[in-house]
Amino acid sequence: MKVVILGSGRGSNAEAILRAQAAGRLGAARVVQIVADRPDAGILALGPRFGVPAAYVDPAPFKTKLEGPGEERFIAAIQAAQADLVVLAGFMRVLKPSFLAAFAGKIINLHPSLLPAFPGLNGIGQAFRAGVKVTGCTVHYVAQEVDAGQIIEQSQVPVMTDDTLESLTARVHAAEHVLLPAVIARLSQTAS
Ligand code: GAR
Repeated sequence: MKVVILGSGRGSNAEAILRAQAAGRLGAARVVQIVADRPDAGILALGPRFGVPAAYVDPAPFKTKLEGPGEERFIAAIQAAQADLVVLAGFMRVLKPSFLAAFAGKIINLHPSLLPAFPGLNGIGQAFRAGVKVTGCTVHYVAQEVDAGQIIEQSQVPVMTDDTLESLTARVHAAEHVLLPAVIARLSQTAS
């Protein structure tokens, strides 16, 4: 199962996937391409470290969505890699129906809350400010509505009374780093 990872930021979840692959814990999945929508994204540095092609693809002309020429460039890059699974690991853009149709049923997203609670930006901060006792992270299929596709798997993270936003963020990220590679491995087993 050929996996293409899309990201915008530091890429700690992409690194967790690549570490799992190196340790033989990614099932029949293999990361074949990393794509970033920012030329300075930390995720791009993982390519040389793990021997995986990593490329910046110009998302222009829009700032928060992928549409028009930028969307066409992303679709072409993912198709060139012959992706069986597209993993959004901190990819901070809204996808349009044309992109979803190009990879129907093959796009999964990681979100730092127990969806449907706290969708959108800063899911960890939203949960922290709401004072919930349990939050977590979710891997779901991507649908048209943001953070609303079918949930594949979730991991719960307790909120401690002495938690700061920083300590809670670290615990949610640690849970993400376990959950996302495990889901990819499982999907690769059911696909093969
Ligand atoms: C992750 O916490 C992920 O859940 C979040 O971005 C972070 C990326 O971190 N995604 C969203 O909020 C999507 N709505 P990373 O670049 O270190 O993997």
